[in-house]
Amino acid sequence: MASKTARLLALLGSQPVIPVLRISEVKHAVPLARALARGGLKVIEVTLRTEAALEAIRAAAAEVPEAKVGAGTILNAKHFDEAVKAGSRFIVSPGLTRQVIDAAKDSEVPLLPGAITPSEIMAALEAGIDFLKFFPAEQAGGAAFLKSLASPFAGVRFCPTGGVTAKNANDYLSLPNVVCVGGSWVAPDEMVRDGKWDAIEALAREASKLKK
Ligand code: 3PG
Repeated sequence: MASKTARLLALLGSQPVIPVLRISEVKHAVPLARALARGGLKVIEVTLRTEAALEAIRAAAAEVPEAKVGAGTILNAKHFDEAVKAGSRFIVSPGLTRQVIDAAKDSEVPLLPGAITPSEIMAALEAGIDFLKFFPAEQAGGAAFLKSLASPFAGVRFCPTGGVTAKNANDYLSLPNVVCVGGSWVAPDEMVRDGKWDAIEALAREASKLKK
């Protein structure tokens, strides 16, 4: 697990913001991944919340070599396997279940599972996982909540997502237990639908300049 965690930290820690994408049409995957990469956000998370998601991962992973494509909203072992087969370089889950942990143990592809409460974090530590998604960040208590986890859980690092925006990203990025944040604000649905790739590139460029 340790070397997989190190790989995941290196990958997600290479940029301050991980775009969390909801891709409804496969044809958007490649231009969207290219626009984000041009703006400096090469690591992207495609959530399995649409019919098109797996095909979108396949297309972006195959056709945009500069992009590092991961899959999000992985809820079970079947999702995990399908996402890996589609070419995902990392897997994100909103929570932490035995089934998802077991799927990750059998795979070379690293897992970023979600945990919020002290008990969930302790369960993650028991499974050998100390890099976690903190979701839904704003709704669960925001940066103040996450900050208060740093003292009892020294050494546990987080990627907060959910309600993170250009306005509040720094509140999280300035915390010592935060590696990066995730958010959908860099690829708004309307801009994707209308093919506003330059505008998305500009949002990505702004986000990529945030300081960790
Ligand atoms: C996620 O899955 O990480 C979140 O849905 C992203 O949340 P946001 O849309 O509030 O950025």
